Amino acid sequence: MIQTRQSPARSQVAIIGAGPAGLTLAHILHHHGIDSVVIERRDRAYVERRLRAGVLEQGTVDLFRALGVSARLDREGLVHHGINLQFSGERHRIALSDLTGGRAITIYGQHEVVKDLIAARLANDGPIWFDADDVSLHDLTSDKPRVHFRRDGRAHELHCDFVAGCDGSHGVSRSAVPTAERRTFERTYPFSWLGILAAVPPSLGEVIYAHHERGFALHSMRGPQVTRLYVQCGPDDGLDSWPDERVWLELKTRLSTTDGWTVQEGAVIEKSITALRSFVMEPMQYGQLFLAGDAAHVVPPTGAKGMNLAVADARVLGDALAQWYRAGDRSLLAEYSSTCLRRVWRAEHFSWFMTSMLHRFPDGDAFQQKLQLSQLRYVCTSTAAATSLAENYVGLEHV
Ligand code: APR
Ligand code: PHB
Repeated sequence: MIQTRQSPARSQVAIIGAGPAGLTLAHILHHHGIDSVVIERRDRAYVERRLRAGVLEQGTVDLFRALGVSARLDREGLVHHGINLQFSGERHRIALSDLTGGRAITIYGQHEVVKDLIAARLANDGPIWFDADDVSLHDLTSDKPRVHFRRDGRAHELHCDFVAGCDGSHGVSRSAVPTAERRTFERTYPFSWLGILAAVPPSLGEVIYAHHERGFALHSMRGPQVTRLYVQCGPDDGLDSWPDERVWLELKTRLSTTDGWTVQEGAVIEKSITALRSFVMEPMQYGQLFLAGDAAHVVPPTGAKGMNLAVADARVLGDALAQWYRAGDRSLLAEYSSTCLRRVWRAEHFSWFMTSMLHRFPDGDAFQQKLQLSQLRYVCTSTAAATSLAENYVGLEHV
């Protein structure tokens, strides 16, 4: 258990959750001289090991550089200037950087981001309270909100000016907003992703998104010796129905091209299944509670937007709180939700678009498949369509 200070009874901002949203916000606030406490349900080892996606937009990398937390990311992150779309056994490259004035993406696991942000936070002597149970939020519509939690078998109370709900899609912050004060928008997809981490060098230097009649597959990586791969699977599939041999067979079938290229097999280090879901809660604010990241919205991973949206929210919230503490000006805070939701809905659309174009829908017919293939061909042959995909993928500067 990691604890950097004794429990303060008061902090300017209480941040619930030590994921990318909460930790990035803590760093931005520190940068502005605003103190915060991060309250996290899990232990440090758990959050540092939790395997998630790994594509950082240019703007996300730029922010980490500005915050001085990018040393390892700059050393170990893999900068990619293109991605590949595959269909009908052929590969087509989308030249991201050429199409977006030189912008690029960086492949770097989310848990590596979390490790770096935690290490830098502790080095700044910033408190992170791991192992906090039964977190609950109180008096959110007053100017003196409080956070209750249990830790080491004792009850704690933290007084603050603001609460940042950064506790992901299963946290408590979202449900602290009365149902009459929020609206939710949701779509579930009739499939999941089975993801593996394999001890084998990537079979290609860039990410591949593959459309195949048996279902979607994705080739990505985590370093020169580690490949990250996904196959579309059934929504109710369990890991026991996916032994390694079946995973490799499907990966090879779906990712091979007609010119004989295929993926290299290696030892499976990790295997997990993720459901695909789109979700947005509006507004992203209630009284002095501000939601950021997965606490407010979820995207299917096909657009690689989840972590980037979480970081973008943290930036907007950090700047708005800075303006309040510096000048007593609440205008950016008042606009927080609408500012974030513009980017959120763009990412929701892009993620839905990529998901719809690339997956096999169990209830889909031949007509739908023809439409998918036509869209893929259009994106790969029209500079206008490719540019639209590329600018969304690397991340829009202004939304
Ligand atoms: N109390 C305290 N902490 C909590 C609670 C709770 N009741 N519930 C959840 N948490 C913690 C989780 O353990 C986790 O560490 O909140 C953190 C939320 O982090 P993330 O789930 O990573 O969410 P976020 O920071 O918004 O980042 C979004 O994560 O799931 C991916 O695809 C998603 O890439 C996106 C990113
Ligand atoms: C990953 O590398 O884990 C990854 C890449 C692209 C995606 C999703 C996940 O769209």
